[in-house]
Amino acid sequence: MSGQAKPLPERIASRIARLGPMTLAEYMTAALCDADHGYYMTGEPFGAGGDFITAPEISQMFGEMIGLWCAETWGRMGAPDPFHFIELGPGRGTLMADALRAAGAVPGFLEAARLHLVEISPALRTRQSETLKAAGASLIALPKWHDSLASVPGGPLLLIANEFFDALPVRQFVRCREAGALSWRERLVTLSENRETLAFALGPATIKATALLPPEAAGVPAGGIFEISPTSAALAGEIGARITQDGGAALIVDYGAARPSGEATLQGVRRHARHDILEAPGQADLTAHVDFAALTRAAGVAGARAWGPVPQGTFLASLGIAARARTLTRAASPKQGQEIAAAMDRLIGPALMGELFKVLAFAHPTLGRLAGFPLDDATLGA
Ligand SMILES: C[S@@+](CC[C@H](N)C(=O)[O-])C[C@H]1O[C@@H](n2cnc3c(N)ncnc32)[C@H](O)[C@@H]1O
Repeated sequence: MSGQAKPLPERIASRIARLGPMTLAEYMTAALCDADHGYYMTGEPFGAGGDFITAPEISQMFGEMIGLWCAETWGRMGAPDPFHFIELGPGRGTLMADALRAAGAVPGFLEAARLHLVEISPALRTRQSETLKAAGASLIALPKWHDSLASVPGGPLLLIANEFFDALPVRQFVRCREAGALSWRERLVTLSENRETLAFALGPATIKATALLPPEAAGVPAGGIFEISPTSAALAGEIGARITQDGGAALIVDYGAARPSGEATLQGVRRHARHDILEAPGQADLTAHVDFAALTRAAGVAGARAWGPVPQGTFLASLGIAARARTLTRAASPKQGQEIAAAMDRLIGPALMGELFKVLAFAHPTLGRLAGFPLDDATLGA
């Protein structure tokens, strides 16, 4: 942090005053990733004392199941040595530490893995390094950190991303009826009349807006909102292209519907509660439902085969989380046993994370059906 920079709300306001309204994607990027005051750049938002809690922070079983999936998929890939083991947005490093511990049970996996962590936050990079060191993961080659996937070298890969895509910028388009005709206008962030706070505005109705939206947007009635994340689709395409060219697979876990809802899902989250999107940018998380259909389309165009999305509960159950919970419980006190049962329920219970969170995989078409995706595609994640 430079210590010189003006507070983020002031900088956003003066940028709007100079250049005009911002897209929501530009606003999200500033609020989350601004080098001085971005939400992810300044602190550690995880846990009971933070703003939200993620699956790997609920229980070690989550990362262990992902690690087993990685080891199994690595075997299907022909156990390439070396291969790139990549995580997007590793948070505190907990998921990677747990995954490495579980995957390490498969001979050769740790020796072959070259670890790459894609993380923008310097503070979280430090935290990830500490977590991995404490977990003994320095036994394998030290991780390399990257600002984006682009700088990870080519070669066979396994990529994991939990609650990463929901942090990527979205744009929203509002269906308008004017002079009897339907059009799309982009939802923008501007200054309110008193010029002291931020407010939403609508951009002009342009043909460009219509061209950006997928065919299913045509069904949205006047007044409805369609949300897209071009950044997410581009990244899914990049992952798909790498997998098609070099072999491997990617596992994406996030929340959202299997098909786009045709509604605005972007929300602010602070201290485990909803927070006004436009209030105190940089101090609240901004997150949107992931459009799994859009990711699947982008990776498919690049030649990768998609599996799922399946509900997180289905995925974890089919990988054996219940057996793992029983093993952990045998060595636990009664109180710890209750905590293990509660954590498993939270991860797989349909009313908790088990249904809302989905798991989507991209794989080289030659790999066949991947572990954790037990159903036929047509019946998945409806
Ligand atoms: C919601 S947290 C999830 C953390 C972790 N995967 C977990 O499950 O606990 C999002 C993570 O992605 C990182 N991140 C967000 N936007 C990013 C971007 N554009 N590029 C790289 N990392 C990003 C954040 O700093 C954070 O580590």
